[in-house]
Amino acid sequence: MDRIDIKNMLQWQNLKQHYETEMKNIHLRDLFKNKNRFNKFSICDDNIGITFDYSKNIINYKTFKLLIDFVKALKIDEHIKKMFSGEKINWTENRAVLHTALRNKINNPVYIDGKDIMPKINVVLAKMKKFSDNIRSGKLLGFTGKKITDIVNIGIGGSSLGPKMVCEALKYYAKGPNVHFVSNIDSADIYETLKKLNPETVLFMIASKTFTTLETMTNALTAKQWLKDKLGNKALAYQFIALSTNKKNVKEFGINENNMFEFWDFVGGRYSLWSAIGLSIACYVGYDKFSELLEGAHYIDKHFLNTPYEKNMPIIMAILGFWYNNFYGASTYAILPYSQYLRSFPTYLQQADMESNGKTINIEGNRVNYETGPIIWGASGTNGQHSFYQLIHQGTKFIPSDFIGFTNPLEKIGDHHEKLMANYFAQTEALAFGLTKKEVIKNLKAAGFSSSNIEILAPYKIFEGNRPTNSILINNLTPKTLGALIALYEHKIFIQGLVWRINSFDQWGVELGKVLANVILTELKGHKKNRHDSSTKNLIEIFNFNKKISL
Ligand code: F6P
Repeated sequence: MDRIDIKNMLQWQNLKQHYETEMKNIHLRDLFKNKNRFNKFSICDDNIGITFDYSKNIINYKTFKLLIDFVKALKIDEHIKKMFSGEKINWTENRAVLHTALRNKINNPVYIDGKDIMPKINVVLAKMKKFSDNIRSGKLLGFTGKKITDIVNIGIGGSSLGPKMVCEALKYYAKGPNVHFVSNIDSADIYETLKKLNPETVLFMIASKTFTTLETMTNALTAKQWLKDKLGNKALAYQFIALSTNKKNVKEFGINENNMFEFWDFVGGRYSLWSAIGLSIACYVGYDKFSELLEGAHYIDKHFLNTPYEKNMPIIMAILGFWYNNFYGASTYAILPYSQYLRSFPTYLQQADMESNGKTINIEGNRVNYETGPIIWGASGTNGQHSFYQLIHQGTKFIPSDFIGFTNPLEKIGDHHEKLMANYFAQTEALAFGLTKKEVIKNLKAAGFSSSNIEILAPYKIFEGNRPTNSILINNLTPKTLGALIALYEHKIFIQGLVWRINSFDQWGVELGKVLANVILTELKGHKKNRHDSSTKNLIEIFNFNKKISL
């Protein structure tokens, strides 16, 4: 990237001035006086069945133009091309970023250092197909000859959150074995999972890009011992497989190369559900459905690459988030799926977004002088409505949010879906337009309240409104639309990283805690004492003392 101080750019200055002089005090009620607003600020893609309505954002035509001018000035198109063509844009790890190649359905060559990587991707996809077909059909059996009924994916971070979220989201389509995800090093996780399983019918997938992660390796060793105790050593060859980039460690662990599904360092952990890490998905819903998931993501990749900025969904999502993050001071962003199937989508996005853009150092190695990635949070609607929505509607924090909903339910039962979606529409309307003092007084009068009571109550019942939202309305929840939805967010995150001039593809911020934990572990095991601050030192001493007592 060229040396740029983004706050000194004319385009940033224009946005700042526009915010201060025109937008800071404007209300969505005023903006919606323009009857053409929905047409201008929405995209309906009938090919995939996605409507993206961003008209309930605090922007006008000029804001939109200035935001587009800003990203154009940053030449983001060049960077997008670099990612898709395998340039090593992850500069702190000297790696290409090619999760898009994993779902490259047209199969055109993609080169890293002059070598086409598509052949090796296709080999692993074919191996995943064969394996998942065989597990589902019962051609591949457990050690004692019984059909696999349960898969336990042992992995953490990207080696768990993506496949777990997708398996939950596609549960309706599942006909394969049950899937379980063990990630936490807390023994409660593996204990509670294993205690209900039959050792003869369990398949363990050890999912770890590096095959060194403490949590995963500890859980994997516990699972290995459990299976050995129940069925003997030979069972491992039948009921343990690895999803990894690290052949050497997989072999040392005792998993044969035939039972390893490979991926590569150009796939970031949080972008890995499209790779061998997605094997639990393929076994659960079938390879065809897994393939449709890839197809949906590929569809958005093409949209992202080929659509002008003004109609490009991920780019628009990115610039709107940037607008609130850097001019309105919004430090958090809520993800609100109106689908029980997508209940883990906010948790999945927390890693995808915050591990990518929670950074302070820019490409020149300097500390940024502006805000970068927001705090991502959320929960499925309507559950959230009965807990934290109060704060979004009437609290002092400014929280932009995305509402994700589906036109058709997967299973129509009574009027559940209409009631769910009535809430989906009502919430964005309430957040945008609120309830004025005049309206509150009118309502209270109609309800028969006395004037003195009206005076007391009215302030509490006012909704200021002007809370911005995006509505992503999808016809049906299918593997394809889910793949598309995930890819929309992946690319949004990428563009925001470009805007903030940070590396969205490393994660050095998770390292320090790991190193210190290894040091402290020796102390908890009573081997040695290290120097610590007085707080940490005393906490460790209390822990060690009480541990002895309770033993
Ligand atoms: O938390 C850091 C991290 O490296 C994530 O980026 C990654 O998804 C996770 O740990 C798990 O890593 P691995 O797949 O190598 O076990």
